[in-house]
Amino acid sequence: MATNRTFTMIKPDAVAKNYIGGILKMINDAGFRVVAMKYTKLTVDAAGKFYEVHKDRPFYGELVQYMSSGPVVAAILEKENAVADFRTLIGATNPTEAAEGTIRKIYAESIAANAVHGSDSDANVEIEGNFYFSQLERY
Ligand code: RTP
Ligand code: MG
Repeated sequence: MATNRTFTMIKPDAVAKNYIGGILKMINDAGFRVVAMKYTKLTVDAAGKFYEVHKDRPFYGELVQYMSSGPVVAAILEKENAVADFRTLIGATNPTEAAEGTIRKIYAESIAANAVHGSDSDANVEIEGNFYFSQLERY
């Protein structure tokens, strides 16, 4: 059953460039409500675990290094049809292919450093949200 929630991270490149406010404004303006939020930094081990689904992909090592290179903002967001609508809001993985007006088109610098993460299914919202937040940290 759809939970109407999604999970996101503002990635290290966007945090380093001071884009947190701009990205959160786009998220709020698109109708998403923050349910949980954390400013934190992944260790190499934690990033490896978070992206374990990609461990056989050629970019896995680079992805783990990059995601542990600086702080991130992790959040659970709520909106009707959250997973699909958030993927539309962030745009394609590669910013050169992202639609005009999407977060990645505006803020991403490359396919690897692409500003934001968005869960791809309700099942992964659950797994990824639980990675960062206890039930008591959701409001
Ligand atoms: P995300 O999981 O971060 O929301 O991104 P996504 O679904 O659009 O893309 P996915 O295929 O799940 O890839 C996860 C992240 O890996 C990095 N990546 N690098 N160098 C490359 O060719 C490459 N391809 C993917 C990106 O940071 C991507 O968001
Ligand atoms: Mg993905």
